[in-house]
Amino acid sequence: MNRPYVAFEGIEGAGKSTVAQRVGVRLEADGVRVVRVREPGGTPVGEAIRQILLSHELAPEPWTEALLFAAARAQLAAEVVGPALEDGAWVVSDRSVYSSLAYQGAGRGLGIQKVRSVNEPGLLGVWPSLVVLLAVDPGEGLARQEVGDRIGDEGVDFQRAVAEGFTQTAAAEPDRFVTINTHMPLDEVVETAYREIRIRW
Ligand code: TYD
Repeated sequence: MNRPYVAFEGIEGAGKSTVAQRVGVRLEADGVRVVRVREPGGTPVGEAIRQILLSHELAPEPWTEALLFAAARAQLAAEVVGPALEDGAWVVSDRSVYSSLAYQGAGRGLGIQKVRSVNEPGLLGVWPSLVVLLAVDPGEGLARQEVGDRIGDEGVDFQRAVAEGFTQTAAAEPDRFVTINTHMPLDEVVETAYREIRIRW
């Protein structure tokens, strides 16, 4: 297994952000230098693109959306993730290229392979080595979500398609994915994710 670039993934309301944050704290307590990132965003260029992507006032076409996510991600890879890994830090990410495969590839129906191929050139091999997929029922996840953004507000059928995209990709890349069912107390989800990471590094 290569460099410690761990992405937390899942549909809306899976609890990624909380779990990613707490796992980061656990790793730091072990003395690990952790760089935390979130997508879309994490750089000035990426945060500007994030505004376009998530605002309710704009309505980008599906391919525009996919390419903007890829653009924000290319910037993050070049400016933050790649250098952090080179420098020996661990990267803990709230979402990654795998969100694009699931949301744009499966959810928007653009095709998982096509979305993968527009992302690859900008990433120059900066790719998550472990994806922790937090699984939640789409209806339950939406009910848990506090404030929705433009994409998060697409509704339960869209969430189902996205969940299916994640499941499909996880099945195709079993060595890269760990799926954790979130039907257990938060502490246990955090502990399980932490252990899965520590088994590898
Ligand atoms: P965010 O504020 O990160 O919310 P969440 O807590 O759901 O992660 O919003 C990101 C939104 O953008 C979310 O609805 C998922 C979507 N998204 C994509 O559609 N494609 C992508 O490649 C990424 C990174 C996110």
